[in-house]
Amino acid sequence: QWTTSSIVEEQVRRISDQIGDGRAICGLSGGVDSAVAAALVQRAIGDRLTCVFVDHGLLRAGERTQVEQDFVSATGVNLVTVDARERFLDALAGVTDPEQKRKIIGREFIRVFEQAERDLKAQGDYKFLVQGTLYPDVVESGGGEGTANIKSHHNVGGLPDDLEFELVEPLRLLFKDEVRRVGLELGLPETIVQRQPFPGPGLGIRIIGAVDQERLDTLRAADLIAREELTAAGLDRSIWQCPVVLLADVRSVGVQGDGRTYGHPVVLRPVSSEDAMTADWTRLPYDVLERISTRITNEVAEVNRVVLDVTSKPPGTIEWE
Ligand code: XMP
Repeated sequence: QWTTSSIVEEQVRRISDQIGDGRAICGLSGGVDSAVAAALVQRAIGDRLTCVFVDHGLLRAGERTQVEQDFVSATGVNLVTVDARERFLDALAGVTDPEQKRKIIGREFIRVFEQAERDLKAQGDYKFLVQGTLYPDVVESGGGEGTANIKSHHNVGGLPDDLEFELVEPLRLLFKDEVRRVGLELGLPETIVQRQPFPGPGLGIRIIGAVDQERLDTLRAADLIAREELTAAGLDRSIWQCPVVLLADVRSVGVQGDGRTYGHPVVLRPVSSEDAMTADWTRLPYDVLERISTRITNEVAEVNRVVLDVTSKPPGTIEWE
């Protein structure tokens, strides 16, 4: 029977064996998984770990500061932030296919890490790349036995063939709830450990259609409102996550003030789940839905309609892409 502290001990030992006296870099996404993976590796190899946070421009409001402040103050880890917003936007320009988006984002992440590794050369060789891949990511990317490839999670199926790093994936056999317990055991604060999941490819896979700056700004604004209202209603811990999805290629007619509008819908996708392998749509209180809808259509000019996704997983996946 595995206890949380035995998982930590075992993983720290494995990481030490794998990395030896080498150095590792870890991409932080702002989410729980990469934070816990980094904290485990830090426990094993101390300051021979450097974390790299890539601002790919597909982040939600406030995410960059959260990593730069909360995670660093909790762990004292070495952190490098790379502003790669232009690079990702250029690479994604005009791309609408979900798998292609995921692969591009996965590839660009790695390219940025490789660049970061070259920049860090002066300190020594960074041969290892730490990733917060979980068991469900492996299964759903077709890595498990007898499983179909549902989506290429950016950190599994999206890796380029000519990867220059050796991967360190200490969470590969764990589910989310176990990862959270490991995080607490390692002393990470609740603000990080209890965060709702957010996919590595970020808002890029929540814009249905091509990704551009204006669409990102629209979605970011709508997403912030939904998060603010769900938090204010005290629902953060009772829902698994609530993606907000911009149907960027769909328009519908609306009336706002005295005028006709021809704007875009956003979809609210609140789900309840144990491990993201299956999920049920969450019956959010009507008054909360109403506040979210009213605020989004009042405050985000490009959006004139808010719709609710009432599909479970299966048949729907949690993210739309
Ligand atoms: P799906 O959409 O497959 O999502 O039902 C299951 C869970 O995984 C998250 N997700 C990702 N997380 N990289 C990640 O780190 C990814 O590429 C990725 N795609 C989906 C999703 O938010 C949900 O919690």
